[in-house]
Amino acid sequence: MNQENQFQNRTAVIDKEVTWDKTQVIMSKTNAFGIIEYANEVFVDVCGYEDYELMGQPHNIIRHPDMPKVIFKVLWENLKQGKNFHAIVKNLAKSGRYYWVITDFDIARDENGVIVNYFARRQAVPQEVVSLHIEPLYKKLLQIEAASGVEFSEKYLIGFLEEKKRSYIEYIKELIYEHEKAQSKFAQYELKEEDEEEGKGFFKRLFGR
Ligand SMILES: Cc1cc2nc3c(=O)[nH]c(=O)nc-3n(C[C@H](O)[C@H](O)[C@H](O)COP(=O)(O)O)c2cc1C
Repeated sequence: MNQENQFQNRTAVIDKEVTWDKTQVIMSKTNAFGIIEYANEVFVDVCGYEDYELMGQPHNIIRHPDMPKVIFKVLWENLKQGKNFHAIVKNLAKSGRYYWVITDFDIARDENGVIVNYFARRQAVPQEVVSLHIEPLYKKLLQIEAASGVEFSEKYLIGFLEEKKRSYIEYIKELIYEHEKAQSKFAQYELKEEDEEEGKGFFKRLFGR
């Protein structure tokens, strides 16, 4: 199924968020080509597709048109090299509503070291991180893609991250960490020293590593 057909078949995009339990983990498993082989109940509940509509389909079945291509380009470059990737992604539910998530991957290989499966776990992203930082960035990337293609949205993203002296993963980890720190100060809650030092308390709690 190509992307064009996929969007033609779908209910119109609605600028409303899916209501879901944001403490839950949305999980799916694909083959090496991103074809869905398993999705947990949370995945099914949040995206609104039935299991039979998801299995055997490419993962772009939930691709949101507000997502810049370059993010998936970088995601796939990392996964194919066997590297985990944390991305902030806006997904599209069957209803046309959206939901924002942050990803964590596991990569399974066969006895010859060939990648056979990817496992994606996703959790909710703090709304403030999305609206203050990610949405404005993705909007720019999307506009650049529309005007000059992914080659130039990638160049822009590289420049943006170079200025911040961060990789994409470091940048989004820091956004979430800074958000958490501000929240915890507000709540008079002290972060554990070791977590603060490494700046990854959120990721440890979220993905257990
Ligand atoms: C395990 C795994 C999980 C993925 N999860 C998502 C997802 O939640 N949302 C999404 O839009 N793309 C996801 N992708 C990326 C899609 O395969 C695809 O690259 C993306 O939707 C962009 O579509 P396109 O490549 O047709 O442009 C995932 C890929 C893999 C391997």
